[in-house]
Amino acid sequence: MNEGTKDRRRTALVTGASAGIGEAFATHLASQGFDLVLTSRRLDVLRSLAEKLQAEHHIDCRVIPADLTDPESPRRVFYELARDEIEIDVLINNAGFGLQKTLLTQDWREIAAFMEIMAVSWLHLSKLALPGMLERGYGRIANVASLAAFAPESPGSLYSGVKAQMVTTSRGLRQECLGTGVHVTAVCPGYTHTEFHSRLGIPDLAKKMPRWMWQDTGAVVSEAWHACERNRPVVITGKVNKMLRLLLAFTPAGLVERNMPKSISKIRARGRA
Ligand SMILES: NC(=O)c1ccc[n+]([C@@H]2O[C@H](COP(=O)([O-])OP(=O)(O)OC[C@H]3O[C@@H](n4cnc5c(N)ncnc54)[C@H](OP(=O)(O)O)[C@@H]3O)[C@@H](O)[C@H]2O)c1
Repeated sequence: MNEGTKDRRRTALVTGASAGIGEAFATHLASQGFDLVLTSRRLDVLRSLAEKLQAEHHIDCRVIPADLTDPESPRRVFYELARDEIEIDVLINNAGFGLQKTLLTQDWREIAAFMEIMAVSWLHLSKLALPGMLERGYGRIANVASLAAFAPESPGSLYSGVKAQMVTTSRGLRQECLGTGVHVTAVCPGYTHTEFHSRLGIPDLAKKMPRWMWQDTGAVVSEAWHACERNRPVVITGKVNKMLRLLLAFTPAGLVERNMPKSISKIRARGRA
């Protein structure tokens, strides 16, 4: 439970809070008594979630619309927070999306926007949040990466690369913060029921794949938050994903390199068919 400091409840900033894993994080943290700052692009969706969480959990919840493909957004979010004297104790770096096309075929502006949100914005937000966390001797940062961080890349895709960068950088940041009261955890879900795949143009993927491969957002978030509270460097959510991770770790690299990218491409194609 959020006991907070003597004179205030603790506050969590959740990026990508309007849907999927981010919305589930916001709901979980509200149930633990955290005040919330929710951000994403869709102001109307954020507002109705904020109203619901405030009514259900008697917390303060504010919304700050921001497009994290804009390099100025992290600074703007923290400017608004500083202006309103809000200190961030928990940061959930969750916002993200996948690219439909490949490095060769996707428009460069879309690739640059993807790199900004997936590889840069969460670092910037963490850098802005950390000084206050360190000063107060309490902080929690959960970085929503993916099981894909440990999987070979499907042809032309940039997704595993950015998620692998998130996992390794997150590990390093955790090391830097050890002993300060600030915890840093990379969260690695596998296939999760959210809007992610419909935005990718494969809305029926869940129907075309075995149910045991999928998790609900609630299960992902409760395991992720538990791991962050224990300052685990990395959490792979769900038994099936843990087994897949082990399988990948012990399969000879050459075999994985030859076969896995083709399998991943087949799965995606099945979703689009
Ligand atoms: N679903 C999966 O199978 C899965 C598996 C492993 C990891 N993940 C990761 O989990 C994270 C959350 O994804 P999800 O599955 O919950 O997907 P989702 O349901 O599509 O939610 C994505 C969230 O990110 C926000 N977002 C997208 N573009 C944004 C932008 N330019 N600026 C600010 N916010 C933006 C969206 O809000 P707005 O549209 O309102 O901006 C939304 O709140 C992602 O980092 C994803 O890579 C997902």
